[in-house]
Amino acid sequence: MKAMKFFSACLFLLPFVSCTQVATNKGDAATEKRVEALLSKMTLEEKIGQMNQISSYGNIEDMSSLIKKGEVGSILNEIDPVRINALQRVAIEESRLGIPLLMARDVIHGFKTIFPIPLGQAASFNPQVAKDGARVAAIEASSVGIRWTFAPMIDIARDPRWGRIAEGCGEDTYLTSVMGAAMVEGFQGDSLNNPTSIAACPKHFVGYGAAEGGRDYNSTFIPERRLRNVYLPPFEAATKAGAATFMTSFNDNDGVPSTGNTFILKDVLRGEWGFDGLVVTDWASASEMISHGFAADPKEAAMKAVNAGVDMEMVSYTFVKELPELVKEGKVKESTIDEAVRNILRIKYRLGLFDNPYVDEKLSSTVMYAPSHLEAAKQAAVESAILLKNDKGILPLQSSVKTVAVVGPMANAPYEQLGTWVFDGEKNRTQTPLNAIKEMVGDKLQVIYEPGLAYSREKNPAGVAKAASAASRADVILAFVGEESILSGEAHCLADLDLQGDQKALIAALAKTGKPVVTVVMAGRPLTIGKEVEESAAVLYSFHPGTMGGPALADLLWGKAVPSGKTPVTFPKMVGQIPVYYAHNNTGRPATRNEVLLNDIAVEAGQTSLGCTSFYMDAGFDPLFPFGYGLSYTTFKYSNVKLSSAALKKNEVLTVTFDLENTGKYEGTEVAQLYVQDKVGSVTRPVKELKRFARVTLKPGEKKSVSFELPISELAFWNIDMAKVVEPGDFALWVASDSQSGENVFFKVID
Ligand code: NOJ
Repeated sequence: MKAMKFFSACLFLLPFVSCTQVATNKGDAATEKRVEALLSKMTLEEKIGQMNQISSYGNIEDMSSLIKKGEVGSILNEIDPVRINALQRVAIEESRLGIPLLMARDVIHGFKTIFPIPLGQAASFNPQVAKDGARVAAIEASSVGIRWTFAPMIDIARDPRWGRIAEGCGEDTYLTSVMGAAMVEGFQGDSLNNPTSIAACPKHFVGYGAAEGGRDYNSTFIPERRLRNVYLPPFEAATKAGAATFMTSFNDNDGVPSTGNTFILKDVLRGEWGFDGLVVTDWASASEMISHGFAADPKEAAMKAVNAGVDMEMVSYTFVKELPELVKEGKVKESTIDEAVRNILRIKYRLGLFDNPYVDEKLSSTVMYAPSHLEAAKQAAVESAILLKNDKGILPLQSSVKTVAVVGPMANAPYEQLGTWVFDGEKNRTQTPLNAIKEMVGDKLQVIYEPGLAYSREKNPAGVAKAASAASRADVILAFVGEESILSGEAHCLADLDLQGDQKALIAALAKTGKPVVTVVMAGRPLTIGKEVEESAAVLYSFHPGTMGGPALADLLWGKAVPSGKTPVTFPKMVGQIPVYYAHNNTGRPATRNEVLLNDIAVEAGQTSLGCTSFYMDAGFDPLFPFGYGLSYTTFKYSNVKLSSAALKKNEVLTVTFDLENTGKYEGTEVAQLYVQDKVGSVTRPVKELKRFARVTLKPGEKKSVSFELPISELAFWNIDMAKVVEPGDFALWVASDSQSGENVFFKVID
């Protein structure tokens, strides 16, 4: 764990390939031999049993009778090491072939020690944060016997109405690829065989984040080129990082549910990427193909899923019930079943389950919430917070501030700050901002606490008035607002992204006191907070920061830490702008800043095309905050951008160097970002694409020369012929603080 601290503090300048170094997903001969030997002894029923994952029934006897018959390959949602060992003992000692069970759980951003939600982790632009978070989760979860997690979620999400945007790394393909690969490495450790390693399961394969209208489970319509350029690369990166398993997604893309999609499961995943791990369905997504209208009954659903390339079914039992008959009728070949079972056994061997199936039942008590885990979670929360506004340097709070008012429903909401997908983290271990602030300031400062609202959806004008009145006695008001954890995550989509309940009224009332309001937003997604940003002197966006959110935020507010997070997703001004993302293609009439807005239009104006560019009359074109945006307590200056060459061949590497200077008064870390635009292609190309980023720490006045290495091969895209190629021509390049700033320089790619 010492290494964690060391690495988190390191300058991260490594090219993306460094994240993919553990590409260990190719079978070794000894394992393959063991797999074949076991497979040759299995009956058809035992093979099909391995393809069945059940969710714990609670009652050990019921499960044991199935396990004894060899009808269960994996169990989801058992977390007690004694029960896990008991079930495992039945599989090892009482089933005919003694094949161990694979125990699974959704360990998404922590098991007990909860890290910031993945979207928050992505805001750190620090793969080490993601890796540390996954490692801690793996150490804690494996200590009770869990050896498989359903994470990372690496669905590109460009619609914050979709509640599951919280679970992923945001809108960008490159950022998600880097962070997702780091999470795979963290979960799986140096070797799957290590008892602290848990198998990762990149999900949801694929396109789930593009649900129409941001409504969960909805259909997607992603053409193959966009699928390959935008949605598939994070999964390919996860495969290269050695991901042991994959999960299919719920959505149908252009009419084909992922669980029955041969193209993505066989052609791409196995064929193009050489994946030899295990593919599991999402929860009942095999039988849900019936609701989709893609299969008439459970039998056809099982047939379509298995023939498409699924190995294991999560909870819906169509495989165990229907496959024996389907094989008899020749509708599913036994060789197809054999291949699925090989993929399952291979992972069980790689995890060392055959040699070491049991967990030390006393281990977990020494592992959970270890000080090093809490420290890593705090560091992650520090790096995940984004400073969106800081008027007149109100932050960090100065010693002249003698009284602070702590208000808002999220100031002391230990359960809510943990965020979505927390089954095992305990709220009584959460450190809230209120408690952390009190602990930090001791009796040096007066802290007035008046939440105003008990929870984020509460409507309570009297509470708002009481909070404003109490807060008016303070030098500075700290308002903790946002979303309860249940407002984001699976099936928790919203059509309105304004602050819920009376929180808007609360901020407005606080602003009216005339005292500076520092607004801290703890949420699972970007919210439309334009008005609150205007009303506040400073805004810190922490997403749901996890167990250690309180101390991390207290450190940031008082300057013991300096914000360095950047938006991993575009923040819209209003919902009507969605989808809004920086890497869009240009229209034939690209937006300019000469927008004609509603108030600019005369009554009975002539029927002209109002500026003739692509924007909204009531929202303009720009979002509230662009992708990659975030301030610091200090300021940074970029200069002297130099390219190693103005013209490069496809096999060459471009070196970009620039100077970065800390021009302010605090030591700080800047996430320097490199964007590229392919000016002309055989198909239209995004206006900008993130290709590299680096966290650079500088002391006040310090200037460093920083360089990025970019192999020209990474400019390849799926072109008009649906081939992945680098097309020669002109490119623009920016090294900048966010996706909207910076001057461009140019280079050419030549044949
Ligand atoms: C459904 C969710 O979509 C998936 O992400 C999760 O892993 C499974 N349920 C198992 O809980």
